[in-house]
Amino acid sequence: MNVMCGIVGIASNFMEDRSIGVLLKEALLRLEYRGYDSAGIATIYNNKLYIKKDKGTIKEIHRKINFDDLLGNCGIGHTRWATHGSPNLINAHPHCDCNDRIAVVHNGIIENFYELKNKLISKGHVFKSETDTEVIPHLIESHLKGRVRRSSVEEAIEKTIRELKGTYAIVVIYVGLPDTIFCVRNENPLVIGINSNAIYCASDITAFLPMTNKVLMLNNNEIATITSNRIEINNTNLEETDINDRKIVRISWTPEMAQKGGRPHFMQKEIHEQPIAISNTLKIDWNKILKFGEYIHNTPPGNIYITAAGTSYHAALAGKYMFTKIANTQIHPVISSEFREYIGNTLNNDSLLIAISQSGETADTINAIDFAKQQGAKIISITNVLGSNITRKSDYFIYTQAGPEIGVAATKTFSVQLTSLALCSLGLAELNGSLLNNEILEFKNRLNNIPMIIKNFISSKEEKVRIIANKYYQNKNFLFLGRGVNYPTALEGALKLKEISYLHAEGYAAGESKHGPIAMIEKDYPVIFVAAPDETYDKILGNVMEMKARGAKIFSIIQENDQTIKTLSDDFIEIPRNIDLPFSPIVYIVPLQLFSYYVAIKCGYDPDKPRNLAKSVTVP
Ligand code: AGP
Ligand code: GLU
Repeated sequence: MNVMCGIVGIASNFMEDRSIGVLLKEALLRLEYRGYDSAGIATIYNNKLYIKKDKGTIKEIHRKINFDDLLGNCGIGHTRWATHGSPNLINAHPHCDCNDRIAVVHNGIIENFYELKNKLISKGHVFKSETDTEVIPHLIESHLKGRVRRSSVEEAIEKTIRELKGTYAIVVIYVGLPDTIFCVRNENPLVIGINSNAIYCASDITAFLPMTNKVLMLNNNEIATITSNRIEINNTNLEETDINDRKIVRISWTPEMAQKGGRPHFMQKEIHEQPIAISNTLKIDWNKILKFGEYIHNTPPGNIYITAAGTSYHAALAGKYMFTKIANTQIHPVISSEFREYIGNTLNNDSLLIAISQSGETADTINAIDFAKQQGAKIISITNVLGSNITRKSDYFIYTQAGPEIGVAATKTFSVQLTSLALCSLGLAELNGSLLNNEILEFKNRLNNIPMIIKNFISSKEEKVRIIANKYYQNKNFLFLGRGVNYPTALEGALKLKEISYLHAEGYAAGESKHGPIAMIEKDYPVIFVAAPDETYDKILGNVMEMKARGAKIFSIIQENDQTIKTLSDDFIEIPRNIDLPFSPIVYIVPLQLFSYYVAIKCGYDPDKPRNLAKSVTVP
C-alpha cells in the first residue's frame, strides 16, 4: 500500500491580525499535491478547539465550510491520502481525544493501531473514526495526568511514540496551550520553517516557502515543541544547542518556483522548465561528480547496484545504459520495492548501492537502502530535495537542480536525473580512463547544448504534439517501444500516459514485442516508437515494419530527416541532431511528456492531480 499526505502546523503571534485559518488553508493548498481526498484544520481559540474538515479537495471543502474564519495563534492542517478508512468527513484529520482537548494530524501508517485501539477501548476511550491515526490523540490523552504544562505534553508524546509501530509525521495541539505546537516524525518527512513572527512545520518546504526559506531538519523521533519565537527539541532550547549541528539552512527555492507562473497546470510549467533545470544541474561542481564517481570506481566489478521507483527507476535504467556505454562499467538496476527479494543476502562491505529519488522520501527506496546498509553496502544517492531522508542515509549524495516539482507526474525531475547520471558516467570515465580527457570535454560541451535544444524544440513542436494528442486520445490502449538507452524512455512515456490519462499504455523493449505484445496488434492499434539513430536503429526499423505490416498506427519519435521511419509513420515528431545518443533520453522524452499532458487535457482530466496517486509515496 502506498501513501503520503500533507501536514502542517503553525505557531504564530498573529492573533487576530491575520487569520490562522487563511494561512493554514493556503499552506494546505501548496501541499495538496501530496494527497487530496479529504482535508481539515484545527485551531485553538478562547480555550476551545475548533475543527473544520470534510471529504473533497481543499477548495471544495472551503467553499462548503469556510476555513478562513478559524482564529487563534496556533493551528494544524492535513490533506489526506487515505490508508485506513475511506475518505469521508469522519476519517478526515485532525483527530481528537475523548474530550476534544488534543488534536492530531498524521502522515503515515500506525501498524499496531488495531491492538492499541482495542486496549484503549477496553480502558473506556471512545473512537469516532476508522483511521489508524486516532489512536495517537487517545494515547496522548491516556498519558496526560494532572496539571498540563508543555513538559507534560512532551512527555505524553514521548510515551506515545514508544508505543507506536510504523511510520509517522505528527503535529499535535493541546487546548490548554494555545501558543504551542508539538511535532515528531519517524521516517515520514517533517521540516520546520522559521521566520520572525511565526514558526511552521510541514511535510515539505513548499508549504511555507512564501513566508520563509530558513529551514530546520528534524531527525527521527526528536520531539519539537514550537511557539512563535522558540523551538525546543527534546526539551533543549534550540539557542542553547549548536545551531550548526541542527543544520539550519537557507534553501534557494523561491515561492514563484512553486506557483504555476501563468500556465494552466504545474505539469506544463514543469515541462517548460526543463531547459533551466537541466542547465542548473549541468553546473553541479565537477569535483562532486568525481567524488560520486569514485565510490563507483572503488567498488569491485559486479557489486554495484542502482535502485529507484517509478520514473526515477526509468532514469536509473537509462543510467545503467549510460554507465555501460560511456564508462564501460556494469551496474545492476533493481526496482526498489523488489530489492530485498531480488538481492537477498548477497551484499557485503564491498557492495555499493546508488539510489535515485526525486523526493528522497520514497519508502520503497528507503527500505532498499536500509536493507543494503544492514549488509554493509555503501550508499550514494541522487535526490532533488534538500535534507531529505535518503540524503541523510547516504554516504554521499548529489542534488539535482530542478527546484520544486508540484505536478504529481514527474517531468523535469526525470530529465535532471538523466542529466546527473550522464555527468556521473563521464566522471567515472575520467576516473577509469575509458574516455580521453578531450573526449569527455566534447561530451560535456554537447551536453551543455541540450537546454537550448529542448527550449527550441518545445517552442517549435509543442503545438504539433498537441494536434497529434488530439488525434489519439480516444484510443484505449497504447504500446510504447524503444531499444537500448531509449527502452527506458519508452517505459517512461507509457508511465506518463497511464498516470494522468488513465489509458492503458505498456512500455516494452522493442525487441521483446514479437515475443508476445504483437498479438495485441490489429488495425489502427497505436504503437509509439522511440527511435533514435543509435546502434539499435536497424533493429527498431525492423520492429516498425513488423507493426506496420499488422496494421498498427505508428507514431514515432525520430531524429530529424529520418526519411525511412518518417515514411512508415502515421505521425512523427523530429528531434534535432547533434545529441550524443547515450544521452538522447534527455531530449527524446520531452515529446512524450507533452503527448501525455495533451491527451489528459483532451480527456478532461487534471494532469496535476491524477486519481489514486500522490507525489511521494512515503509508506511501503
Ligand atoms: C512519477 O511520475 C510518479 N509520480 C512516480 O512513479 C515516482 O517517480 C515514484 O513514486 C518515485 O518517486 P521519487 O523519485 O520521489 O522516489
Ligand atoms: N493513515 C492515516 C489515514 O489513513 C494517514 C494517511 C496519510 O498519510 O494521509 O488517515
